Amino acid sequence: MSARKNSTGARAAANLIHGYGNLAALEEAPPLVIAAGKGVRVFDEDGKGYIEGIAGMWCASFGFSEEAIVEAAIGQLRRMPYYHTLFDKTTTQAGELAEKLKAIAPAPMSHVYFTNSGSEANDTIVKLVRYYNNAIGRPKKKKFIARRFGFHGLTLASGSLTGVPIMHTDFDLPLPGFLHVGFPHYWREAAPGESEEAFSQRLADQLDRLIQVEGPDTVAAFIAEPVMGAAGVVVPPRGYFEKIQAVLRKHDVLMIADEVICGFGRTGNMFGSDTYGIAPDLMTMAKGLASAYQPIAGVMISEKIYRAMVEQSRRIGMFAQAFTTSAHPVAVAVASKVVDLMHERDMLGHVRRVSQRFLERLHGFAGHPMVGTTRGVGLIGAIELAADKTTKERFAPIVKETLRRVCQERGLIIRATGATDAMCFSPPLIISEAEVDEMFDIFAGALDEVARRVARDGLGAAA
Ligand SMILES: Cc1ncc(COP(=O)(O)O)c(C=O)c1O
Repeated sequence: MSARKNSTGARAAANLIHGYGNLAALEEAPPLVIAAGKGVRVFDEDGKGYIEGIAGMWCASFGFSEEAIVEAAIGQLRRMPYYHTLFDKTTTQAGELAEKLKAIAPAPMSHVYFTNSGSEANDTIVKLVRYYNNAIGRPKKKKFIARRFGFHGLTLASGSLTGVPIMHTDFDLPLPGFLHVGFPHYWREAAPGESEEAFSQRLADQLDRLIQVEGPDTVAAFIAEPVMGAAGVVVPPRGYFEKIQAVLRKHDVLMIADEVICGFGRTGNMFGSDTYGIAPDLMTMAKGLASAYQPIAGVMISEKIYRAMVEQSRRIGMFAQAFTTSAHPVAVAVASKVVDLMHERDMLGHVRRVSQRFLERLHGFAGHPMVGTTRGVGLIGAIELAADKTTKERFAPIVKETLRRVCQERGLIIRATGATDAMCFSPPLIISEAEVDEMFDIFAGALDEVARRVARDGLGAAA
């Protein structure tokens, strides 16, 4: 116990606030200390290896030891470790990276604004949309609509876009002017006998009604993740984005694609918007943009929004939105290398090949007695637990948490989500077929072990 008390993990818990942790529980059971990484694996301080089935936070797409990216960072640190892109200054590769991003964007984009995190990027989007509507003389058109259980970050504005109740509790969120519509989780939310298309239409109609009730002249934008990550890898039901975008066009409401998880190959195309036919006016990128080797995120906006911003800043005298370390040169060098490697190594081709094995193994769990449903696209997927497949009754929360821990004991890190009982997989994109098999073999053993415990200890359905 005393060794544990003096451990690196205990020191961390004693001095550092750990996001998403139960702070009280962490004082009793210190966090796992991750000390090294190689390929798709990370190693704890005792040298035990784990397949990182969720790529850290759905982000380390090139794994944990890509030398080409490390070299890009070191080279830039030596040449110019810091400069900014504010006032009348810029840095060597920032404009070039923006150009590369525009070239791969899922819809015509005009300009890029870099931030340090996905939350900051979505926060910035809220400000840009306000600025835009003020610029074009629509000062009332300011409300944002997001989805229940959508995740867009945790700053005040991005946390208000987020639709996860526990992330609002006691933070006094959402702020006024942020509204949430239906959760497009077909398996859980569709009415009995409702087809996917009909479910999508119902959600689009609900959005339409909300905009009409609020007043179309007050609703500025709608934001969505192409595939909802933190909600439990919720892939859109058939026809969903087509129907939603028709409603947005009807009411002149901007479409924001939050590509923080889906961007840079995760769904088998460069962006989730490519996979699902989304034509965003604005989009958010983070995570895979730099394989998370550096904190960098960004926003891409269309020409109509950029032109209005130019005119407005001419009138006001300044575009007064800036971060000291946005487009940080080391982060930019890393992101630029990542984008190059995506092309040079044909990462999309690799993802499409390996995802066949990934999805085959993932869906192979659908018949397991503990599993309600499975879903996935590209290299992102979820296995959703259910105490009863037919009634869709949920397990007590302890079950998914136990499964997550047993996976970890057996050398696999995955994520268990709160909105659904989904065990989420989003491994580094570089994963091989053999590693996919190893990952799901570990999961299969863990699932069977937890099934035995559920039967033995009576850990059952949620009360
Ligand atoms: C879809 C989505 N948007 C935004 C964010 C926020 O990004 P960050 O954690 O970098 O602030 C996340 C983080 O998980 C995310 O999944």
